[in-house]
Amino acid sequence: MEYRDVLEQARKNIGPNCRVCPVCNGIACGNTMPGPGSKAPGLGANDNYNAWRKIKLNMDTIVEQKPMDTSIELFGRTLAFPLLTAPIGSIKMQFTPESNVADFNDQCMAACETRGILHAYGNGRTDDIFEQAIASSAKYGNTGIPVYNPDSVENIKQLMDMYKGQLPPVAMSIVVDSAGLPHLNSLMGGKGGTKSVNDLKELKAYMGLPMIVKGIMTVKGALKAVEAGADAIIVSNHGGRVLSDTPATAEVLPEIVDAVKGKTKILVDGGIRSGLDVFKALAIGADACLICRPVLIAYYGGRQEGIECYLDKIKAELMDTMYMCGASSISDISREMIRLPK
Ligand SMILES: Cc1cc2nc3c(=O)[nH]c(=O)nc-3n(C[C@H](O)[C@H](O)[C@H](O)COP(=O)(O)O)c2cc1C
Repeated sequence: MEYRDVLEQARKNIGPNCRVCPVCNGIACGNTMPGPGSKAPGLGANDNYNAWRKIKLNMDTIVEQKPMDTSIELFGRTLAFPLLTAPIGSIKMQFTPESNVADFNDQCMAACETRGILHAYGNGRTDDIFEQAIASSAKYGNTGIPVYNPDSVENIKQLMDMYKGQLPPVAMSIVVDSAGLPHLNSLMGGKGGTKSVNDLKELKAYMGLPMIVKGIMTVKGALKAVEAGADAIIVSNHGGRVLSDTPATAEVLPEIVDAVKGKTKILVDGGIRSGLDVFKALAIGADACLICRPVLIAYYGGRQEGIECYLDKIKAELMDTMYMCGASSISDISREMIRLPK
């Protein structure tokens, strides 16, 4: 399957809220929520996308030719390249009534297994999404990472209990930013959104697994996550879906890296659309990236095969950028290889 076939097929299947634009930049979907867009009144998804455009790549091809190695170690596991597919809690409300997020998770994990990476899956409104994701992960090489959306500590613990007697995932993630999601807050009666440092410590101790705190956008937040024992953070503003007029993730990444690099792993998402963007994030100091909306489009365009096609494209672009900027392994990639905006 060629990537253009994936996009063409996705246009037929994804429903009216997503236009499957040639580049997924958050403009055509605008402020459509629920839907794939940004939270009104801004265009946060587009802000994220544009910030990566402003970072430029420094070419350097006077280097020794070596075999290219894109692998990394994360949570005791070797990933073929530094990418995770990002969590999506529900797609019925956002895309088509026939959509099934459990099937999306299943197909992502199948693709991630063949491509040697991991899939993070979110909890929606019903527990069976998690039940099915746990089964899919067991089927596809333990490629799934559960991501717990805002809820009370007690309710999250109940969801964590679903892993009792099952193959433990390599890590688990607590989302802190979707306290700002309008539809989630109204579903939960406005309760259980924010988390204290102690809540995070309690949840990590309860599940006994490496903890990834998702939704960090400031040095202050990153330091609190480190205090809570985060093994990783995800620099993320939920793709512009939780608050307008925040900075873009690419804009805050450098200062967060400077503050907490070495104390926790640093992941980032938001507007990353190519292997070039992945390279830029790694050059700033991130350990890995996540991509959400284009993976979903690839799913609607070809299920497992569509996602694999998209992942292959990202990896090929990353390798090409490494080749052109003088890096043959991920650890070679450094900030001198990019030009940050002044
Ligand atoms: C339709 C949709 C549903 C999402 N659901 C979740 C979720 O349940 N949990 C979560 O942590 N993030 C969720 N996200 C946020 C993504 O995981 C990701 O952080 C964000 O979209 C940024 O990546 P992108 O610009 O590549 O889309 C959702 C995003 C979209 C578009």
